[in-house]
Amino acid sequence: MARDAFFDHQRRELLRLSASSTVWLAFAASPLSALAQPAGGPPLKIGMVGSGREGGALGTAFVNAGHPVMFSSRHPEELKGLVDSLGPLARAGTVEQAIAFGDVVAIVVPYTAMEEIGKEHAAALAKKAVVIDVSNPIARRDGDELAKWVEQQGGAGLATAKLLPGAHIVRAFNAINYMKLSEDAHRPGELVAVPIAGDDQNAIAIASNLIREIGFEPAIVGGLAMGKYLVPGTPLGGEHTSAEIRQIVANLH
Ligand SMILES: NC(=O)c1ccc[n+]([C@@H]2O[C@H](COP(=O)([O-])OP(=O)(O)OC[C@H]3O[C@@H](n4cnc5c(N)ncnc54)[C@H](OP(=O)(O)O)[C@@H]3O)[C@@H](O)[C@H]2O)c1
Repeated sequence: MARDAFFDHQRRELLRLSASSTVWLAFAASPLSALAQPAGGPPLKIGMVGSGREGGALGTAFVNAGHPVMFSSRHPEELKGLVDSLGPLARAGTVEQAIAFGDVVAIVVPYTAMEEIGKEHAAALAKKAVVIDVSNPIARRDGDELAKWVEQQGGAGLATAKLLPGAHIVRAFNAINYMKLSEDAHRPGELVAVPIAGDDQNAIAIASNLIREIGFEPAIVGGLAMGKYLVPGTPLGGEHTSAEIRQIVANLH
């Protein structure tokens, strides 16, 4: 089997089976794993919906970890500088192309755009192994009406699930400033933890692995209903170790 075809097969198998951590361990222990660039397994195709400050920084981290990434914009030509600077693993496209490209899709847009993205792309997003929702409803930016609607749904996690029906959503990276993503990655000593909330174990396993690969520690805080705590300005916002996150979560209940 040609090397690309081999990795394609491995990638599909891992996406299918990643809920079992033994699968990742088995792959990591195999001599073939030395051929793969990312530390945790074969490369996953990642589509970035939103490639601004946070989406650009997060997509860059995924490229640096060895994953092919399509950055998207409503004006993809404006992403030329970014993708040229990142080399052959990075490319630019429309939102539709990035969603089609990704095994994993990260949505990193002002929360006001989420409804439109859902209307146009929910069916395609529902077919993805993971949709990482990095977006936050912020009243001063997105308006009181939207913030109130999100609150009525039970917070950002459940609101995103309503706007993207059928998607395997996890919330993660929501309250780590884009400038800190490169600064804090692979920090010596105790790693910075990324709180993650979701209902789908397979999606959580894949997202957790990506978090480790880019130099952070995943800290699962609960189901999507807990996603309301993953916004800036809440106790979980900013940077914490996983022990600190466990302590904060215990005090939320
Ligand atoms: N900045 C941070 O440090 C940070 C940290 C954690 C989470 N976040 C969250 O991440 C989200 C983005 O923040 P940001 O600071 O990265 O914003 P930003 O720099 O303004 O980038 C916004 C991105 O969203 C895209 N976008 C806007 N409307 C869209 C639509 N209707 N369809 C598709 N794409 C659309 C824009 O693409 P175009 O090129 O098409 O305009 C742009 O790439 C926010 O929800 C924010 O709360 C930000």
